[in-house]
Amino acid sequence: MPPHEKERVTVLAPDTIQERVRQLAQQISQDLAGEKLVVLGILKGAFIFLSDLVRHLDVPCQVDFVRLSSYGSSAESSGTITMTQAPEIDLTGRTVLVVEDIVDTGLTLQWLLSRIQEMNPGSIKTCTLIDKPERRRVEVSMDYVGFHVPEGFLVGYGLDFDECFRHLPGIYELKF
Ligand code: IMP
Ligand code: MG
Repeated sequence: MPPHEKERVTVLAPDTIQERVRQLAQQISQDLAGEKLVVLGILKGAFIFLSDLVRHLDVPCQVDFVRLSSYGSSAESSGTITMTQAPEIDLTGRTVLVVEDIVDTGLTLQWLLSRIQEMNPGSIKTCTLIDKPERRRVEVSMDYVGFHVPEGFLVGYGLDFDECFRHLPGIYELKF
């Protein structure tokens, strides 16, 4: 069955997401005021979340991205992570806010945090739109969490299944 024909159940409505993103941006602006901030998004999943988040920040920041591959074309982790695009901004001494779409097993974020640590930042903060602890395999520190969603495969607002559904304004559970 083509992905777009699968059943989708609304988990987070667009308004709910927008309101929470505003709150997160407010908190981050308070906490990180005066820091030399780099907001570092993980492509592709975080592209929409990051875009909304930075528009509500009222502290100066620079924006950069890394591109990681961990999932193939399915809902299962491939287990291998590679950085196919590294940060372009020199992170030395900077406060780096890593922005992720969803933390599932935790392996991707844990792997990226050690790579960034090697770049000698001043400090690292983490922000994820969704914390999904169902399949967590490693403890990973999250400073800012938008929503806790206990389980299910989620799509929309940047999240994909087989590169589909990223454009949807809300977040939906895909039924297999
Ligand atoms: P982790 O390494 O298992 O924590 O997975 C992190 C990455 O897997 C995220 O950045 C997502 O791209 C992808 N992922 C995990 N869970 C979901 C989901 O429910 N929907 C879509 N992508 C997911
Ligand atoms: Mg993905």
